[in-house]
Amino acid sequence: MSNPTGYPELDALLPRLEAIPTLDADALASELIAVLGRKNGALTEALKSVASLPLERRKAYGAAVNRLKASFEAAFVARREVLDDQRRRLQSAGLDLTMPARRRWLGAEHPVTRVMDEIVEIFRGIGFTVAVGPEVETDWYNFTALNFPADHPAMDMHDTLYVDAPPIPGEQGGRLLLRTHTSPVQIRAMLESAPPVRVVIPGLVYRNDPFDASHAPAFSQIEGLAVDEGISFVDLKATLVHFAHHFFSPSTKVRFRPSFFPFTEPSAEMDVECQLCHGSGCPACKGTGWMEILGCGMVHPAVLEYSGVDSELYTGWAFGMGPHRITMLRYGIPDIRLLYEGDMRFLEQFVPGNPRSVAVAGPGSHSA
Ligand code: PHE
Repeated sequence: MSNPTGYPELDALLPRLEAIPTLDADALASELIAVLGRKNGALTEALKSVASLPLERRKAYGAAVNRLKASFEAAFVARREVLDDQRRRLQSAGLDLTMPARRRWLGAEHPVTRVMDEIVEIFRGIGFTVAVGPEVETDWYNFTALNFPADHPAMDMHDTLYVDAPPIPGEQGGRLLLRTHTSPVQIRAMLESAPPVRVVIPGLVYRNDPFDASHAPAFSQIEGLAVDEGISFVDLKATLVHFAHHFFSPSTKVRFRPSFFPFTEPSAEMDVECQLCHGSGCPACKGTGWMEILGCGMVHPAVLEYSGVDSELYTGWAFGMGPHRITMLRYGIPDIRLLYEGDMRFLEQFVPGNPRSVAVAGPGSHSA
């Protein structure tokens, strides 16, 4: 209850002061103008009249007007705070602060990326460095310098994706294509630095293949190349067996079968004991007990010569493996498309520390 001021024209405003806590937002805004508005506000008028009063009344009346003005201002501020608070509470009415929060969503490396990193690390551990090359290549690096004869079927439009673009000035070889393997980087590595060369080359390669359970038009490869004086097939076998024992398990059996590649002579394919049935035969290895994981061989002398390496003085070996395929073999993944689709229900199984994850072996942590 506000105290009377002793001035009837001011006391007449007291009921309006007392009504302020009952006003809604709109009424509050218009009452503010009606009382304190600069032009016609009821209290503004009273303040203006102070100047025309005789001196002896002016002081006391002026003080009473100012006190009343302060009371109105405080009442307006207090009411606005109450209304704002109510509005905020209504706005957040749909929010249940007791609901458990959504769990933090942590990303993880794709299983193929993890496998590639593991493979590269094993080779880095025995003195190999990492080299990379362009995914758009010339046919000279992709085929010619790798000793493919001019009419080799791999160069056919049905197997290779050609790029419709003018040749790159200063690059060897004419037509541009999406590289069909990482082997052209062998040539680039040898042209760049003289032997000894020991490199691993991870990267994507492209083939004019359908996207089905066992093919993808883009997939990963890791190439290996060692060139030095006196390198023999023994070095090739010992290095690849070392790799298989570190990547799979120390007791994993390995075999080499004769094969053919234009850029290696002799050539071989390396199989490892099936990781799912350990040799007894299962659907994943088509009952053979073996899984093919890479192609390899001694670098063909013609390839050394194309790369500016004296084939009388130096020898070398090379291999190429497919991390997408190796990931499938290691985990028994039946369809390569699962590795491209980004389905979290599939990928979550490979997140380390996830209770639903399959055993994920790291370098040195052999899953026997
Ligand atoms: N480039 C071959 C392929 O893509 C693999 C390979 C690489 C074979 C190096 C031998 C030596 O199939």
